[in-house]
Amino acid sequence: MTMGKPDLPGSQPPDVPHVPVLLDEVVAALSSLAGRRVVDGTFGAGGYSRALLAAGADVVAIDRDPTVRVHADRLAEEFPGRFQFVTGTFSKLDILAQEFGPIGGVVLDIGVSSMQLDQSERGFSFMREGPLDMRMSQSGEGAADLVNELEQDALANLLYAFGEERKSRRIAQFIVAAREQAPITTTLELARVVEKAIGRKPGDAHPATRTFQALRIAVNGEFEQLVEGLFAAERLLGEGGVLAVVSFHSLEDRIVKRFFDPDKGGPAQSRHLPQVKINPRRWDPVSKAVKPGAAELDRNPRARSSVLRSGIRTAEPAREPVYDQLGVPVVRGAS
Ligand SMILES: C[S@@+](CC[C@H](N)C(=O)[O-])C[C@H]1O[C@@H](n2cnc3c(N)ncnc32)[C@H](O)[C@@H]1O
Repeated sequence: MTMGKPDLPGSQPPDVPHVPVLLDEVVAALSSLAGRRVVDGTFGAGGYSRALLAAGADVVAIDRDPTVRVHADRLAEEFPGRFQFVTGTFSKLDILAQEFGPIGGVVLDIGVSSMQLDQSERGFSFMREGPLDMRMSQSGEGAADLVNELEQDALANLLYAFGEERKSRRIAQFIVAAREQAPITTTLELARVVEKAIGRKPGDAHPATRTFQALRIAVNGEFEQLVEGLFAAERLLGEGGVLAVVSFHSLEDRIVKRFFDPDKGGPAQSRHLPQVKINPRRWDPVSKAVKPGAAELDRNPRARSSVLRSGIRTAEPAREPVYDQLGVPVVRGAS
């Protein structure tokens, strides 16, 4: 049985605050799973879960943000017995999903939701005044802790590594100078410091865009979560299982691409020698990158830069994740 395009009542209700990205494409990637159970590891406002339920799959949803429970309760009522929600991180999705029986697919929609961005008190947006927080789980260290406590070099390295911010050293220098006067505690205070450091050109993205991205990734351990989540899906899914991942910037997409296809971009092999498979394939076939079309971008500018990749699990045993010297999981060749 395959899943079709979802119709009412599965369509998104008008008051749902997050417009799902690449929704038709995600449902199509998981279309072999009607009658089976899918893990939605990034529930958000439930756009993917709803569409998958409407298309005939059962869903176990996970989100680390406790405030999404209100959307989950609504789906549980609408689809009795077919939808379960767990608060937690998708890095542990194999453990969290264990009690729900066999799982046929996993979907991850990496990053931040519109609710998180739009609620000024969550501190994710450089456009809205709020506490410098950015914690999806609402626990642990927030962005203000990093901004006010990291040494200048460590701060610059963080902005460079997670935000690809080329002016990271100058921004870090200005942040340290500002916090010597008084701690930086709000989003707009930080945005102003960054603007003072690197200026603002008309027509360009806001100068604090990369700084905010870097801090959000660091606060939430997003790269570690992504790598751990991918390997957890590999452990969870048996042969024929489908993994679909939507990511939002090149650093994440590189991790996903490498995970699915670790031999791509490896050392060139001589055409005179027998071709050697360096890694037995855990995912085959793997889709090409799917990006939103013009109509979706018109409807939802936040879909800009989203990329969907999916793969089908082979019978090869799951890999052990590799960790770097700092104990951070890495996908070989992804850095
Ligand atoms: C882009 S939104 C997902 C939107 C969802 N696909 C929809 O249609 O409504 C990402 C969600 O994933 C959650 N999230 C991000 N990283 C997570 C992680 N490591 N574990 C669990 N949830 C995570 C965020 O809290 C957020 O609610």
